[in-house]
Amino acid sequence: MLRQTLARKPRAKVLSVACGPCCDVRSILAEVASTDGSFVFNDSDEDAIVYARSHFPPHVDQRCTWVGGNVFNRLRRLAELGPYDLIMAGGLFDYLSDRQCSWLVGHLVQMMAPESKLFFTNIASDNPFRLCMEHIACWKLIARSENDIGRCLVPTGNRCRFGSIAMRPDWRS
Ligand SMILES: C[S@@+](CC[C@H](N)C(=O)[O-])C[C@H]1O[C@@H](n2cnc3c(N)ncnc32)[C@H](O)[C@@H]1O
Repeated sequence: MLRQTLARKPRAKVLSVACGPCCDVRSILAEVASTDGSFVFNDSDEDAIVYARSHFPPHVDQRCTWVGGNVFNRLRRLAELGPYDLIMAGGLFDYLSDRQCSWLVGHLVQMMAPESKLFFTNIASDNPFRLCMEHIACWKLIARSENDIGRCLVPTGNRCRFGSIAMRPDWRS
């Protein structure tokens, strides 16, 4: 999706909330470096930001704005830096309640430029590794089905048109 956005619009502005170590962007860093795309990265963990930033060459870093802190507290700043052609929120919703997901999506949608996309992930409720994750790795996430995600998006009302939503399971058990 990041590739497609930069191909469609080489000067695209991309927001990644809860960016962590920015593995997604770093995995296509050479392609990113060859465009004029600009990035806004947010994470509540300052160490993750320092780590991610250390992997960006200066000519890419100068097109990046780093906004540390809890996304719920930094939304105003993130909105000021928009609008965005792509908003990514990978690996965040698994930690949020339905109410928080709805609220956040409702606000992120308002930061989107025309023709833009909002991408987020959520661990699936039929995740076959759940028992192993919870009991061996002590890693408890809020899993959701496609219906659960649909319900989270209902309160966003007109700001999220259902015809424009696509859910893509990355595996089926
Ligand atoms: C599983 S990692 C995902 C990293 C990256 N987005 C990815 O897809 O690989 C989750 C990240 O969310 C961050 N995070 C959790 N709650 C957050 C919040 N309320 N605001 C901003 N970042 C948050 C954590 O610090 C962590 O770096």
